[in-house]
Amino acid sequence: MSYSAGDAGASGARIGVIGAGYVGLVTGACLASMGNPVILRDIDPVKVAALERGDVPIYEPGLEVVIAEHRERLEYTLSLERLLERADILFVAVDTPPTYSGDADLSRVMSVIAELEATGADPSHVLVMKSTVPVGTGERLRAELDARGLADVGYCSNPEFLKEGDAIADFLGPDRVVVGAFDSADADRVEALYAPLGAPVLRTTVSSAEMIKYASNAFLATKISFINEIANVCEEVGADVAVVAEGMGLDRRIGPSFLRAGIGFGGSCFPKDVAALKQLAGNSGYHFQLLTAVIEVNELQKRRVVNKLKKHLGSLEGQRVALLGLAFKPGTDDMREASSLVLAARLIAEGADVTAFDPVVDGADRLHGVQLCEEAAQALAGAHAAVVVTEWPAVVDLDWAALRSTMATPLVIDGRNCLDPAAMTAAGFVFEGIGRLPGAPGA
Ligand SMILES: NC(=O)c1ccc[n+]([C@@H]2O[C@H](COP(=O)([O-])OP(=O)(O)OC[C@H]3O[C@@H](n4cnc5c(N)ncnc54)[C@H](O)[C@@H]3O)[C@@H](O)[C@H]2O)c1
Repeated sequence: MSYSAGDAGASGARIGVIGAGYVGLVTGACLASMGNPVILRDIDPVKVAALERGDVPIYEPGLEVVIAEHRERLEYTLSLERLLERADILFVAVDTPPTYSGDADLSRVMSVIAELEATGADPSHVLVMKSTVPVGTGERLRAELDARGLADVGYCSNPEFLKEGDAIADFLGPDRVVVGAFDSADADRVEALYAPLGAPVLRTTVSSAEMIKYASNAFLATKISFINEIANVCEEVGADVAVVAEGMGLDRRIGPSFLRAGIGFGGSCFPKDVAALKQLAGNSGYHFQLLTAVIEVNELQKRRVVNKLKKHLGSLEGQRVALLGLAFKPGTDDMREASSLVLAARLIAEGADVTAFDPVVDGADRLHGVQLCEEAAQALAGAHAAVVVTEWPAVVDLDWAALRSTMATPLVIDGRNCLDPAAMTAAGFVFEGIGRLPGAPGA
């Protein structure tokens, strides 16, 4: 190993992070906060320039503060050469978006490997894959590295489980750290980095580590689609899904998390990871029936809102509908695969006049034909209906009673079950949640 004296951090490691997006920036900032020197490399010059100026290019609560507090240990660069000089443990956090077939697009990961060959990684370096990659990718990359004369460069899989919106707390207080390696000495180096966090560490093979990430996300997505279907049945039979979920969640074998019914999951992880696992299984000859249903239920769930609106308004042609919240969940500006995108497109296709408000997202480039408003009140003024798409505090805590009279018709569809049906009904709204009884108390 070639740590430079004076340069190595608390754990004796010098960290490089390739890809300064949601995962890379949080990883870099948190590892710096743990006393490690960190250099982050991105190929986006605008992002690197912003970071060098001290601006954080994404919205993630607390990230700006951590980056500012530990700026003396954080360096940003466009140059992989500089990163290889300054770092030994190289986290890869590039994007792995879905392709049209549902497989993960590994082109960014592969270009990192090609660049490592061109730039000249050496035996001091160990690559640590944080990007979510299909099972088998590590084996493939190990073979690539070997074939490119980089057999001495280590390789580990260290999947990331952070949630946008809580990313710092998740990174610094993980439920578990998973390290898959071909060589136990490489795993030792990665495990040592996390030692100060005191989290359980699961060491395994690279393939099992890769599978743990996919299986975890697929399971959580399944829980969401399951409770959404229960909600849909509740609507048919006159039960209240909030109480049903509470009753289920008290069973320790089930647990209360991921049991809030709503208009479906979105974001940069669940949809693509579920599709990639289904695809991975299919490519290996196994038809993963359950995941096919999870995906379909999620797609239909977003569209059910349109039927709820039609039930009350008839044709949506010329009707004004306000979408409250655009991000795929509160606490982030991420709109990848957000339910708002599908909903806005469906409503416009029905001829509705769509207004929208989000406290953080500027979705102008992605929401064609939607009138974006600075304030929720502006979006609601003259609306025939409002749909709560993201449970931002800025939406939940609105003075709903005061806003009612500004709407053309006081219809609210709560797509996240975050408002109190009894209070909304008492305030004079025609109110529907997802699987909620009309006058039920509590959010
Ligand atoms: N966002 C999440 O909540 C989350 C959680 C867990 C895991 N993941 C996984 O982590 C990975 C990264 O996700 P993200 O949301 O941070 O993506 P992102 O799109 O926010 O960031 C990826 C960054 O990598 C950069 N990049 C691309 N090619 C590069 C290269 N050759 N060298 C340097 N930088 C390069 C891009 O410019 C971008 O800034 C994905 O595989 C994702 O599935 C994401």
